[in-house]
Amino acid sequence: MSYLMGIDVGTTGTRAVIVRPDGHVMGAATAPHQPIRMERPGWAEQDPEDWWQATVLGVRQVLDQTGIKGSEIAAVGLSGQMHGVVLLDGARAVLRPSLIWCDQRSDKQCEWITSKVGAQKLIRLALNPALTGFSAPKLLWVRDHEPAIWKCAAHFLLPKDYVRLRLTGEFATDVADASGTLLFDVAKRKWSKQLLSALDINPDWLPRVYESPEVTGQITAETAIITGLRAGTPVAAGAGDQAASAVGNGVVLPGITSATLGTSGVIFAYTEQPKLDPQGRIHTFCHAVPGKWHVMGVTQGAGLSLRWFRDELGAAEAWYASRVGADPYELILREAESAPPGSGGLLFMPYLMGERTPHLDPLARGGWFGLTAAHSRAHLIRAVLEGVAFSLRDSLEIFGELKIPVHEIRVSGGGSRSFLWRQIQADVYGREVVSLREAEGSAFGAALLAGVASKTYASVPEAAQQAIQVREHLLPQASNVQLYDRQYDVYRQFYPAVRKLAHELSAVSAP
Ligand code: XUL
Repeated sequence: MSYLMGIDVGTTGTRAVIVRPDGHVMGAATAPHQPIRMERPGWAEQDPEDWWQATVLGVRQVLDQTGIKGSEIAAVGLSGQMHGVVLLDGARAVLRPSLIWCDQRSDKQCEWITSKVGAQKLIRLALNPALTGFSAPKLLWVRDHEPAIWKCAAHFLLPKDYVRLRLTGEFATDVADASGTLLFDVAKRKWSKQLLSALDINPDWLPRVYESPEVTGQITAETAIITGLRAGTPVAAGAGDQAASAVGNGVVLPGITSATLGTSGVIFAYTEQPKLDPQGRIHTFCHAVPGKWHVMGVTQGAGLSLRWFRDELGAAEAWYASRVGADPYELILREAESAPPGSGGLLFMPYLMGERTPHLDPLARGGWFGLTAAHSRAHLIRAVLEGVAFSLRDSLEIFGELKIPVHEIRVSGGGSRSFLWRQIQADVYGREVVSLREAEGSAFGAALLAGVASKTYASVPEAAQQAIQVREHLLPQASNVQLYDRQYDVYRQFYPAVRKLAHELSAVSAP
């Protein structure tokens, strides 16, 4: 029997899963990362070495736990947090910690890119505007602030591709992850010579680009010893976490859409051709299905908002959870159940790391609005869950404006393991939401891509058809839909009304 392995280099940890070709998950293991380093508001860094150590640990653990031998793994697929910048010197040594996807420090570099290339030309070449979320502005921040490091740079890699380098010795990436760099010609699926020359970035720094199910290299003899994998096991290109998760959710046909609640929150739809939002509020990227594209709207602080609550305001739950051997999230979510839908008129804006869709504003600031002395902790928590769902609805509304068909919404990601958060999503979107049998998301999708690479499946849609099964259909509750419609109307007006004040406030706290 041969199995498939998917490895997802996430934000909070690296997860390795082993999947049987019929889609059954044999086992999964997550090795946590160090917390994101946030030296200043809007800054976010992680150490690539930490991702590598977590990968080794995760792979070893899942092999041990399942008793499956490295020689039984037909292929490995990679997925990972997108947009992060890993700079290496000529000897392949990491030059500085990675500025990761949610790092917001590069707004000046975005302005520079837009004026250097021209806003219209940028959209024509990259199909997306310059956003602090993307890699190119982060690279240019290093150029502008750390010239000594810039001078030593010889390679630029995305997070999962640094792990690939350690696994296989190859410099490679996939079209979906490359799309989020702003150095990629998304329509033609190759690095953009014009953008690289306009931004004066050395093309020799860039990895070779593959379609997601292509083989990019093999596990080296040295890696085989430390991970337990077999030397020579093929490693598929895989995809940025969102495209990989879409494969794992079967979002490989028109009309099927996903809502993923990880650290970020993403609404994702497949498209046959590149589909543009003239206002740039949603991203247009290559899909992990060869020759296809996708659109997605991104909430920066989805699971991140709840995690922030747990870490900063959840000491009581953490203490009690450690005494009874429970997960603090479980207690926090249970507490939220005791607040009514609408959280008694309390709104939460999840803009703890600025916001992409729809505001495109690195200086956006979050918080609760509408607090009264009648509100309890339960209201605060429920409002966080609802605020994240409102923010994802913003993306769905834009899909509607652009006539992108949404026939079915598949919910996934850590946040959607909570029944309450799934029901809130159904009620806020006003539509049925569907959950799948396997909720492994990106790592599962990466394993399916490995399955296409190893010819276990003939194509990505065939992999989805063979391995994915629906588990639950959850209907919206009519009375909640009405209430949430009214509340969403207030939510969507709120940030534009205070945007100027948020900017003033962030200027006050700027170093
Ligand atoms: C997508 C994005 C996030 C990260 C981390 O554009 O920035 O989803 O990939 O998950």
